[in-house]
Amino acid sequence: MAEPRSVIIDTDPGQDDAVALLVALASEELDILGITTVAGNVPLELTTRNALMMTELAGRPDVPVYAGCDSPTVRPLITAEYVHGKTGIDGAGLPAPSGSPRAGHAVDFLIETFMNREVTTICALGPLTNIATALDRQPGIVERIDQLILMGGGFFEGGNVTPAAEFNIYVDPEAAAAVFTSGIPLVMMPLDVTHQALTSDERIEAFKASGNESGRVVAGMLEFFEHYDMERYATDGAPLHDPCVIAYLLEPDLFGGRACSVVIETTSELTMGMTVVDWWGATNRPPNCLVINEVDDDGYFSLLVHRIALLP
Ligand code: BDR
Ligand code: CA
Repeated sequence: MAEPRSVIIDTDPGQDDAVALLVALASEELDILGITTVAGNVPLELTTRNALMMTELAGRPDVPVYAGCDSPTVRPLITAEYVHGKTGIDGAGLPAPSGSPRAGHAVDFLIETFMNREVTTICALGPLTNIATALDRQPGIVERIDQLILMGGGFFEGGNVTPAAEFNIYVDPEAAAAVFTSGIPLVMMPLDVTHQALTSDERIEAFKASGNESGRVVAGMLEFFEHYDMERYATDGAPLHDPCVIAYLLEPDLFGGRACSVVIETTSELTMGMTVVDWWGATNRPPNCLVINEVDDDGYFSLLVHRIALLP
């Protein structure tokens, strides 16, 4: 097997983040250098707690968790308990973690890790606050990141927090703008692709059918998580957003997209946090991001189920 790919996962769990973490922790193609947490779906204390719970569930307490920024770069925090429940991972039915986050701030960990290694990949599953803060403090990290794969934004699909904006970008649009103008090679998983990757009774059953604790926890979380979106969009399932990022790392051929210019709206209140994607080349702005808009949804769920089945 090829050398495992070195990755850092920046996240705000959230049930879909939690599934993404479990899939990554189950995958021997990935060397997870650390998990950095950020405030987003729920406050930082809970996102950190939830990330620790996933490392313990996966039998990987050796993977360090670092707590990061507790609020966006310039705005007050907006959270999403209305989707994820009070804990962020309602439905998991797990005890509190026995371990604690590592000493030190996630932003220091990011800078030190990037600067001391040749190249690292970063997966961003929440607001981009930690990454933008690291870029602001040490712009040299741009050269050390071979790829940043993020869940965020939406173009033809529009937004999920406002008509124009998706949650991760809307929570910290200034951070997103810093990342999208940084020069880091970007891959973006917008709502346009995640809304093709819907949960279903059958897909949730498949996680349970593995018979392990992790499969049971994933099923419990998804049963809770899907309710809000099913009602909102009148669909038979909910978009399973964040694991798309990890699935892209593991099996990029499941996805299709186009290199485009993407600019983040940070001034208009009406469209704040919009990801303005030049899909049709209406401007001469050079592409800064591979924008994904296609997924083999059966292949995606099958990958997730198989990886979760490998866990305790
Ligand atoms: C994104 O926002 C959060 O609610 C999810 O975890 C995902 O990262 C979807 O808009
Ligand atoms: Ca998330």
